[in-house]
Amino acid sequence: MINIAILGFGVVGGGVYEVLKNNAYDISKKLGGDGSQLVKVAHVLDLRKFEGHEVESIVTSDFDKILADDSVSVVVETMGGAHPAFDFSLKALQSGKSVVTSNKEVVSKFGDVLLKAAKDNGVCYLYEASVGGGIPVINPLINCLTANKVTRIAGILNGTTNYILTKMLVEGAAFEDALKDAQERGYAERDPSADVEGLDALRKICILGGIAFGKHIPTEQSALCRGITQIDKADIAAADKAGYAIKLLGVAKLCGDKASLMVAPHLVQKGHLIADTVGVFNAVSVTGNMVDELVFYGRGAGSLPTASAVVSDVIQAIRCPVAETPREKAEEGFTLPLDECPVKLYLRVKAFDGAADLGAVTALDGGEMAIITEEGTYGALKAKVAASGAVVIAEHFVL
Ligand code: HSE
Repeated sequence: MINIAILGFGVVGGGVYEVLKNNAYDISKKLGGDGSQLVKVAHVLDLRKFEGHEVESIVTSDFDKILADDSVSVVVETMGGAHPAFDFSLKALQSGKSVVTSNKEVVSKFGDVLLKAAKDNGVCYLYEASVGGGIPVINPLINCLTANKVTRIAGILNGTTNYILTKMLVEGAAFEDALKDAQERGYAERDPSADVEGLDALRKICILGGIAFGKHIPTEQSALCRGITQIDKADIAAADKAGYAIKLLGVAKLCGDKASLMVAPHLVQKGHLIADTVGVFNAVSVTGNMVDELVFYGRGAGSLPTASAVVSDVIQAIRCPVAETPREKAEEGFTLPLDECPVKLYLRVKAFDGAADLGAVTALDGGEMAIITEEGTYGALKAKVAASGAVVIAEHFVL
């Protein structure tokens, strides 16, 4: 029997329990067992009592009890929030227990510290579920694509906002109703402003960029974090006419020996898988210098999909408790400020004669035009637009 503990019995923690129970036979066989339950949840840490629930007898509010239990080899951290989740994870690693998490806030803030603690103690810190819900993207980046220099990662990394955008666009739902629906389905963060304002996606792109570029990148080092609140219906219609869909993307690009990282609404050309990704689904495009472009697609949030990734990491921790190479923090200047980031712009402008000098033009109703520029640094493009005399009504990025 392999004993584990689950810290936080919410949407994801509860899902982990379900996955272990529902797939007990397959998990046992995959770990070389005879089919009877091999991975047992010995403790659940939560402040709630869960009276009448089958976990009632194993619920505790005392983390030290779990720490002191030498039979527990893997701790699942699905608490959310930075503290005490980070502190408990560090203590667990330091006491020789592997830690598996879905907590993107902890990974994006303290991943470097926790990976080092795992290595120092000969155990692992695994965090596949922190990005993309049920989609395997971290393991592929660390393992399958390790022969490549990754030059770009771009993706829909937040299920809640993609769900909201889809509901608003396809069903004409009001923003508040779509958000409430996403919350009821267990997609949204406890504070949904982290979804809507882009912070959740930013944490995720910083985690992915950190793996791809070999440095821990704190969110503060990104160029921009812009959510979905500034997307105007007129731009959705203009983008559509020009052959694009608007999606909230996290984008990390390698720019020589530096990197640009941002979250913002982007126009994505129709026909690209990302443009067709709707609802709670995420899609992550990874470009490697040898493999070219790959797209990872699936459910980016929700109890069982996210728990699927957590439990796979639990199985990996049991099979092979070997730590990933820790990363140093990105030095000052590794990430580019917005003005120096290479981007393409979409501009909705008042119709004017010099528009074609700025890029490809689509005529819109009401005496307006949509312009898609060529790639340049944001600062240079802005200067060119200002010099053209264009009256800009709206601006977004283009993938
Ligand atoms: N709130 C997150 C989302 C949950 O909507 O994508 C999964 O990380």
